[in-house]
Amino acid sequence: MKGNEIMELEKTTQSNTSGNAFSVAEKNGIATVTFDLPGERVNKFSTPVMNEFKALLAKLKTSNYKFVVFRSAKSKIFIAGADIEEIKALSTEAGVRAAVGEGQAIMNMVEDLPMPTMALINGACAGGGCEFILACDYRIASDDSSTRIGLPETQLGILPGFGGCVRLPRVVGIQAALDVILAGKLLNAKKALKIGLVDYMVHPNLLESFAEKEIQKILSSGKGKRRKTFQPRGFVAGLLEGPLKGVVFSQAKKATLKATKGQYPAPLEALEVIKKSYKMSDRAKALEIEKDHFVRCALTDISKNLIHVFYLTEMVKKSSGVADKNVKPRTVKNIGVLGAGTMGGGIAYVAADKGIGVRVKDISNEANAKALKHAYDLWKKLVKKKVIDNYQFSQKSSLVSTTVDYSGFKTLDVVVEAIVENMDIKKKVIAETAKNMRDDAIIVTNTSSLSVTEMSEGHPRPEYFAGMHFFSPVHKMPLVEVIRGPKTSDETISTVFELSKKMGKMPVVVKDGPGFLVNRLLLPYMAEAAFLLTEGMDIETVDKAYVKFGMPMGPFELMDSVGLDVCAKVLKIFRKAYPDRVEVSPIMEKLEANKTRLGQKTNLGFYKYDHSGRKTEVDQTVYAELNLGARTKPYDAQECVERGVFAMINECCLALDADRIVETPHEVDLAMIMGTGFPPFRGGLLKYADSIGAKYVAERLTHYAAARNAKARLSPSVKLAERASSGKKFYN
Ligand SMILES: NC(=O)c1ccc[n+]([C@@H]2O[C@H](COP(=O)([O-])OP(=O)(O)OC[C@H]3O[C@@H](n4cnc5c(N)ncnc54)[C@H](O)[C@@H]3O)[C@@H](O)[C@H]2O)c1
Repeated sequence: MKGNEIMELEKTTQSNTSGNAFSVAEKNGIATVTFDLPGERVNKFSTPVMNEFKALLAKLKTSNYKFVVFRSAKSKIFIAGADIEEIKALSTEAGVRAAVGEGQAIMNMVEDLPMPTMALINGACAGGGCEFILACDYRIASDDSSTRIGLPETQLGILPGFGGCVRLPRVVGIQAALDVILAGKLLNAKKALKIGLVDYMVHPNLLESFAEKEIQKILSSGKGKRRKTFQPRGFVAGLLEGPLKGVVFSQAKKATLKATKGQYPAPLEALEVIKKSYKMSDRAKALEIEKDHFVRCALTDISKNLIHVFYLTEMVKKSSGVADKNVKPRTVKNIGVLGAGTMGGGIAYVAADKGIGVRVKDISNEANAKALKHAYDLWKKLVKKKVIDNYQFSQKSSLVSTTVDYSGFKTLDVVVEAIVENMDIKKKVIAETAKNMRDDAIIVTNTSSLSVTEMSEGHPRPEYFAGMHFFSPVHKMPLVEVIRGPKTSDETISTVFELSKKMGKMPVVVKDGPGFLVNRLLLPYMAEAAFLLTEGMDIETVDKAYVKFGMPMGPFELMDSVGLDVCAKVLKIFRKAYPDRVEVSPIMEKLEANKTRLGQKTNLGFYKYDHSGRKTEVDQTVYAELNLGARTKPYDAQECVERGVFAMINECCLALDADRIVETPHEVDLAMIMGTGFPPFRGGLLKYADSIGAKYVAERLTHYAAARNAKARLSPSVKLAERASSGKKFYN
């Protein structure tokens, strides 16, 4: 996707309603207000929409309607929330206060309407949408799978500011409210009903007729308006909502600090609002507290960065993976997976989980059985957690079948190759597979280090061949690199791009080249960690420094999870590709040689692992085994982190500016966040680089290159030096 397309996307998310987002129909004194934002896929609260809504509410206030019902005309969206582009544009405290104040005032108008109100929720009802339904008297949700209700604001570094922090705890109690708000969760209708966020759950087709009957009941019973207040059930629940609520708050704070490692302030700010405002009878005062805390979050870099990440994910949703808008992806109903190992098993699970038929082919029946077990075990866990029921379990598992020959391959649309990492074998197997499939079927390789270009020679019709690089563990890692070979057609790329999305993944299209994008950037980072070790640093200090920076794990733990033999092998490939600037610490070769110390898979690497694969402690014997002397810990955390992260930025300048592995910094940042867990609150590798400046990065690298005798690998690349002297940022 090009930078200007992204700006377009950001522009199109700005609503430009011309004053006809709402329509009102009346029947027997009951008004039905339909929200249908013209020209938009979703309903959202932008300033123009809010103005129109405010005028409508003023009219409703003085009307004679007995009841007002709110519904959406969009098929899978009730209200998606406030306009994120407007949140992003907030730049002054006064501006934030005015915007939040206006939103709160409008929700108060809803709450204060003289007649009872009811929201009919079908589809997404998030953020401002959820805050709106909380201001209504009654709420009925459809049980459609698109119905998701909640307050995801903390995911954007802010908190619910249109009264959500004040009203949700009143309606569902402190515990459930904290659960939703602190994690920024969206609930399905069943869960929303369970916590009391909605009053009823019905089939989407029955939503309107059920509501009609309910309204008649409410009117005839004289119940009318209400302000639902949570009633705890049982003695303990009562204590936790009352005298012991302090315990609930302190436990929530502890859990939040653990989950966010203290790097995301918004959930803690939301917690403070709830703590200070819960059961406050003065609504204005409670909302003022919410506004004060909202202001503390909205103008932070963290919030701006998280909004940036939100746009990156939206960019993928709207992209087809190719520039030509006329290219349409093919429909993929059934796929094949070659190789039932770690990756093949994971790919089969993810595809079947999303309703795609999967035919797994391995040379070994045992491997096939293991892959099936892997998938079944993951689904069984979901059954246990009540995420899916037994019927869904059998539906999903019936989608996977296995074979040791090519039976059934003629019906497959795409085959993902995930066999051993060996070019000759892969080429041979690809040619054989192509013979056993339809002529127009697509074959993709999941190779992590081999050339897609060379491998495409194995395919008789290379326009139908590409890379589809998943990350391990497949069911957890969201990124897929879609690799374009020299002859890959646009149709193939867009089909694989779409298939990745269907599998619930975030695809990024990359050009072929050693390590593609993510591994190319990660390799210098891992290589640098090995040098830190040889120079006297210890494993724990280095890993801790990176975790503090925001990485999900440090480089040593990462190498353990990838496999030390794999790291060593790929580093060698990388060195061969770029001999002038890639250096590999001799400890990597030693590590590769010891087959009992290959990382997590052998329960021993830099760390020890228990039988379930859980990390226990650093294996202190590793230093002696690698002939490393006593740990002198010569560097501080800053140096440890800068050497690894700046090495990635340095390499990225070449990958982006020279080799154009991807087209935009947006794709780099999305790939690094989704593929390595680069801290989202920093906005991605290049957003972070922009925040500190290329000049600083180049200066520090120059210093480390000289001081640590690392001229070849740490000197600023030509492209970084260019950016440092021109001051040109990655993002304009
Ligand atoms: N493990 C990772 O972290 C990771 C990540 C991304 C990509 N990859 C890539 O995925 C591929 C598979 O890696 P893995 O870790 O799953 O390996 P693995 O060793 O766990 O599994 C490979 C499987 O392929 C089977 N196999 C071998 N030859 C075959 C053939 N001719 N036909 C069918 N099956 C055959 C083997 O029996 C084995 O079950 C490799 O190309 C690897 O580079 C691995």
